[in-house]
Amino acid sequence: MAILVTGGAGYIGSHTVVELLNAEQQVIVLDNLSNANVNALKRIENITNKTCVFYQGSVLNKALLHKIFTDHQIESVIHFAGLKAVGESVNKPLQYYETNVTGTIILCQVMAEHGVKQLVFSSSATVYGVPDSLPIRENFTTGATNPYGQSKLMVEQLLTDLHIADKQWNIAVLRYFNPVGAHESGLIGEDPSDTPNNLMPYICQVAVGKLPELQIFGNDYLTPDGTGVRDYIHVVDLAQGHLKALQKLSTRPGIVTYNLGTGRGYSVIEIIKAFEQASGKQIPYRFSARRDGDLAAYFADSSLAYEELNWQPLHSLESMVESSWLWQSKNPNGYND
Ligand code: WQD
Repeated sequence: MAILVTGGAGYIGSHTVVELLNAEQQVIVLDNLSNANVNALKRIENITNKTCVFYQGSVLNKALLHKIFTDHQIESVIHFAGLKAVGESVNKPLQYYETNVTGTIILCQVMAEHGVKQLVFSSSATVYGVPDSLPIRENFTTGATNPYGQSKLMVEQLLTDLHIADKQWNIAVLRYFNPVGAHESGLIGEDPSDTPNNLMPYICQVAVGKLPELQIFGNDYLTPDGTGVRDYIHVVDLAQGHLKALQKLSTRPGIVTYNLGTGRGYSVIEIIKAFEQASGKQIPYRFSARRDGDLAAYFADSSLAYEELNWQPLHSLESMVESSWLWQSKNPNGYND
């Protein structure tokens, strides 16, 4: 029996495929390579000495999905494929709703037609509105402030309705906080297709000289040093969380949502200092205006995942910045090196 990983050539997807292969799972990857590089799959083979079956295409392609489910005995799906840039989603709402919502609907329709009803869904902490308190728990009010977050919320709702309609569906919804870092080999990592929106890949590109300096979006937040505080989680810890959620599906019927974070927040300045310590590189920066939509601070209460999935993050901040630097310094041009 195989696991279908949509978006499996992407940043979090590729790290999850490594963990699945290391756990002796058969893996099928579907990826349209819109924000991924096929070279990641070769690197995965170098790391694991195992291969996965790869199909290039979109989850919107129903015929291709039918072919995959016909040609392979698939027991579960981990669904990463989607668009995820908050700012871009404001300018391209239809593209975000089509890919993220319609894409998931088509995937679930084909899964149901083939009797496959075990799903791990890649959601995001963006679905939480402005939290009333910290840390954030799964039962906190949700309320997206952009089409990207709204699309994730809509998918969470459709999956809930799907389970209500057919109790055979077993679904784990994973809300990520801020994934960073890379596999210890330095062979796979985050490789944004254009100028990074997120902090860590931006710092990495400054460190290798691809970008001149970092802009810190606001230093007047009510946080210890005035800069934004986030719950950074190592991508390998995040990948492990997917395996644990997958394993849980077979013993825990129903639909359940888990925060995947560390419960600890770090400020932008703290991240810069830790990265400089790990890399020996100076990261020039200047303060600029706050970024629309940014919150001062948010970090997770992941105790439900600790208790129910027997999962907890193992990597330290040092490991996050060291592994990010190792990946970037070995691959200054990402997978195009
Ligand atoms: C982190 C901190 C910025 C860039 C986003 C999505 C979320 C998830 C993770 C998908 C903030 C500051 C950043 C820069 C900066 N993605 N920053 N200069 O915004 O917490 O979360 O990515 O699911 O959905 O919303 O992550 O890395 O963009 O920002 O000062 O050039 O770094 O203000 O305080 P964010 P981020």
